[in-house]
Amino acid sequence: MNAITTTNIKELKKLFSGKVRDIYEIDPDQWLIVTTDRISAFDVVFNEGIPGKGRVLNRISNKWFSKMTMLPNHLISTNPANELPYLANYPGIAERSVIVKKVNRLPVECVVRGHLFGSVYSEYKAGGTAGGLLLPSGLKLAQELPEPIFTPADKAESGHDENIDHDRFFEVVGEKTGRQIIDYAIAIYIKARDIMKGLGIILADTKFEFGIDKDGTLILVDEVLTPDSSRYWDGDSFKVGESPRSYDKQFLRDYLNTLKWDKTPPPPPLPSEIIDKTREKYLSILNTIEKI
Ligand SMILES: Nc1ncnc2c1ncn2[C@@H]1O[C@H](COP(=O)(O)OP(=O)(O)O)[C@@H](O)[C@H]1O
Ligand SMILES: [Mg+2]
Repeated sequence: MNAITTTNIKELKKLFSGKVRDIYEIDPDQWLIVTTDRISAFDVVFNEGIPGKGRVLNRISNKWFSKMTMLPNHLISTNPANELPYLANYPGIAERSVIVKKVNRLPVECVVRGHLFGSVYSEYKAGGTAGGLLLPSGLKLAQELPEPIFTPADKAESGHDENIDHDRFFEVVGEKTGRQIIDYAIAIYIKARDIMKGLGIILADTKFEFGIDKDGTLILVDEVLTPDSSRYWDGDSFKVGESPRSYDKQFLRDYLNTLKWDKTPPPPPLPSEIIDKTREKYLSILNTIEKI
């Protein structure tokens, strides 16, 4: 199976490409979002794709959107070939695509963390805080936090997303919207965390994006609870203090950390074992999530 890393749907206008998704305009209010097989780490996109990854992410995200009925989301159709029959001429595209409501996306990444890992673990070790929030002392790597915390980041147009504190977050999105976002983000995380726990998987953290539609309503956009935007850990082998066995991009990050690469473009080539193993991990978490 070949990876789909570029797309070209001639019937539609391509608006832009994100690191992973290609965005096409259907009309001023509706977009076709195609999740390609591209993969990024440390905000750098690799030349090689992970075959089938776009389909896996699209299925996982659509599944979770259907469970999160506490707020509106951007999905108009998860079966875009119905509305756009010419997609049949582009192998692999329909199963990677959704039609969404285009909204004013808020320029923040809304991160919820239930465990201490990644950037906030380094921050905690240095000063006892995570995303600026004071945590109890003595917590170990990967340990579950007393309660989930909201650690927003700005969504940089280019370069790395930097963590911001809650004051800055409220400045960017407004106090009322900010409070709503925090409540929704934590509620969605808790619901997904509890569902996954029943399936033997720890949902350690995740990132959401929100937007405001034409009526001024806050809606959930982008992707939800995918292994690109979340950390999924194996519950059985989990041990506090150790780096967990994960079903997400951590495997790729760990590999990249063994290289002498400064995490700026150009990216190093990905060996086929790394591509295969990453593909297996994404397929494995899809299998679990499809049971929900
Ligand atoms: N419904 C929506 N309305 C407007 N923008 C959206 C919507 N859903 C997703 N987006 C944006 O589309 C892009 C998706 O492409 P992606 O490859 O994930 O980008 P990124 O490199 O920013 O992660 C992101 O910029 C995301 O914020
Ligand atoms: Mg994205």
